[in-house]
Amino acid sequence: MGITVSIGVQKGGVGKSSTTCITSYLLAERGFKVLTVDFDSQGNTTQILSGKDIYSFEDNTVLNAIIDLDPAKYIVKVNDNLDLLPADDILSTLGRALGNVNRVVPTSLKETLDIVKDQYDFILIDQPPNLGDLSVSALSASDYVVVMLQSEPLCFKAIPRYLQLVELIKERITPTLKLAGILPSMSDSRTRIDSSIIDQAREDYEDWVFDTVIRRRNRIKEYSILGIQNSTKEDRDALEQYQQFLEELLNRVQKGSV
Ligand SMILES: Nc1ncnc2c1ncn2[C@@H]1O[C@H](COP(=O)(O)OP(=O)(O)OP(=O)(O)O)[C@@H](O)[C@H]1O
Ligand SMILES: [Mg+2]
Repeated sequence: MGITVSIGVQKGGVGKSSTTCITSYLLAERGFKVLTVDFDSQGNTTQILSGKDIYSFEDNTVLNAIIDLDPAKYIVKVNDNLDLLPADDILSTLGRALGNVNRVVPTSLKETLDIVKDQYDFILIDQPPNLGDLSVSALSASDYVVVMLQSEPLCFKAIPRYLQLVELIKERITPTLKLAGILPSMSDSRTRIDSSIIDQAREDYEDWVFDTVIRRRNRIKEYSILGIQNSTKEDRDALEQYQQFLEELLNRVQKGSV
């Protein structure tokens, strides 16, 4: 059975999609069979991993997979080990679409992914920047959640509420859901506020905070246009920090090797 990990927090622009895509890419590079699920109607993960405009997947997205309860039909191949369930902006109509057929949103993604879970070592889910139905559904489908902490005050303030939602999902829907940890992201080591927020997070959340800190690297921004690359020194520098995160994540989910 695959391990499903979602990446979330309700604050926008903090590195969720970048982390989902790069982690998926590196897991696949290590030989794990990976399915990445774009569960944000912005479709950023779809764009980064497929290199295509999100509208080219119209009527062939995760929304259709859920409605038809048939993910295999909509999964696209990124490379030998990496598959993608794409999203476009119509994903925001999921509630209405399921209401029409008397199904509910919170368990809908889990029901859909359960069908293909045994074909993958990992399923990674990119969550949208809110605490709405899509985030609830993504968390309900997950074994683990990685909470993103951009080292800035408003993201730090968002975390308790997000953790409350995780607890609620554990109580009401998915008792097996576990926190994998809190990942500091987009940190600028030259600014005092960034370091002080990470220090505060380590004090408040102790070992839940990953040792790895994802630093700001312009190359990561370029991946939004180029897709993930691994050929230059800049690539190795950008990806190295994610390799460290991956080591910690694999340890925490107790998945040593392929
Ligand atoms: N470590 C990093 N260094 C520099 N830029 C980064 C880094 N991580 C992400 N970015 C850039 O920051 C922007 C926001 O990142 P990303 O889209 O991953 O965040 P997000 O949390 O998924 O956003 P949203 O909440 O809108 O879905 C993007 O332009 C991305 O390329
Ligand atoms: Mg995103």
